[in-house]
Amino acid sequence: MSFLKKTKNTDELVDTVFSLSETAKKDFEPTTVNATIGTLYDENGQLFAFDSVFAPYDEIPHTVKAAYASAFKGNENYRQAILKWVFQDKKVQFKKEVIATPGGTGAVALAFSNFLEAGQTVLIPEIAWPVYQLMASEHNLKAVYYSLFEENHFNLNGLKKLILEQLPSNDKFLLVINDPCQNPTGYSLSLSEWQELVSFLNSLPKDKHIILLNDVAYMDYTFHSDGRAFLEVWNELDHNILALIAYSCSKSFTSYGMRLGALLMLHQKQEVVDAVLHVMDKQARSLWSNISNSGMENIANILIHPEAYLKEKDLAVQLLKKRADLFMQQADACGLRYYPFKEGFFLTLVCDEKREAYHQALIKHHIYCALVPKGIRIALCSLPLVKIDGLAKRLKEIQGEL
Ligand SMILES: Cc1ncc(COP(=O)(O)O)c(C=O)c1O
Repeated sequence: MSFLKKTKNTDELVDTVFSLSETAKKDFEPTTVNATIGTLYDENGQLFAFDSVFAPYDEIPHTVKAAYASAFKGNENYRQAILKWVFQDKKVQFKKEVIATPGGTGAVALAFSNFLEAGQTVLIPEIAWPVYQLMASEHNLKAVYYSLFEENHFNLNGLKKLILEQLPSNDKFLLVINDPCQNPTGYSLSLSEWQELVSFLNSLPKDKHIILLNDVAYMDYTFHSDGRAFLEVWNELDHNILALIAYSCSKSFTSYGMRLGALLMLHQKQEVVDAVLHVMDKQARSLWSNISNSGMENIANILIHPEAYLKEKDLAVQLLKKRADLFMQQADACGLRYYPFKEGFFLTLVCDEKREAYHQALIKHHIYCALVPKGIRIALCSLPLVKIDGLAKRLKEIQGEL
């Protein structure tokens, strides 16, 4: 007999990245490289905490910090500020709603918990943030993994084929995309890839309900592409498709611990987004009630005059780009293979066979990286240039020893 529900998995939560990072922190060899940490660090090994975010936060009165938020769906100024910030200059014709969530995780979790019945299908990238898989299993969903790449571009053909295979046994499915700056590969879909995906989804039978979720956790760290360009392509989405955007303030505002995010819902009809919002508002009330009042006030205020924040974030983006350029230049020179990288926090080495042995061999050589499906993730976001210089060559040499 168990006190728990029959469907609950009693295995301990294993966060291998976190535990490996702790091991790396105790390894004081001069050659140690800790490429596990998924948060942004500066060149001196300090966590970035933007002054433009935390100086105004320190000015917030204690009573505002102590107070409950003014609504379970989030403070009105925060909700409007997030809508404006996410859409910026994009003309989005759909009706829109938004709910404040504890981080991007809260937003993604709302999407996983409210649309599919147990056993229904969620399509997840094969190389992805592992929490999608955990959420699928928590909600007893059937996780089906789509291959991400065909040669050096997004594997649209593979995704289309997989959806067509799933269609006869599914009246509804949730499709998860994590774009731009995908975790862990650093890929971003091109505008034409988005267009092709949208026209394919529109070509499916209209009695199928599709929930399209884009997790834009790294949206504000693009190097080249306009991370918001997909929004105008989404204007074409048909009425049988509900579009969701999971936004996170964690990376955008170096506010991981503040637990701020939002889920945006878009559809042609107001009654559809209203119904979704009402359901989520009640779920929020019953799960976490409301999120940080002062955190929301701070973000809403920063976004009224974002100039100082934009300047500071821009410097961080330039630094990330420098790190990525150095790594790729040296990887290309020694023939170290990595998945098509465009921008963002992470890059992933191509490594399928002997992946675990390679990962262990790297640890023996004091190089700590995250093991991901079909690869090894390098967290450029937390590696100073001095640690990146020469890393590709070492990674290649260790590959040769296997
Ligand atoms: C792909 C992806 N989505 C969502 C999140 C959620 O972040 P948070 O809940 O800290 O905002 C993360 C964080 O690592 C992520 O990598």
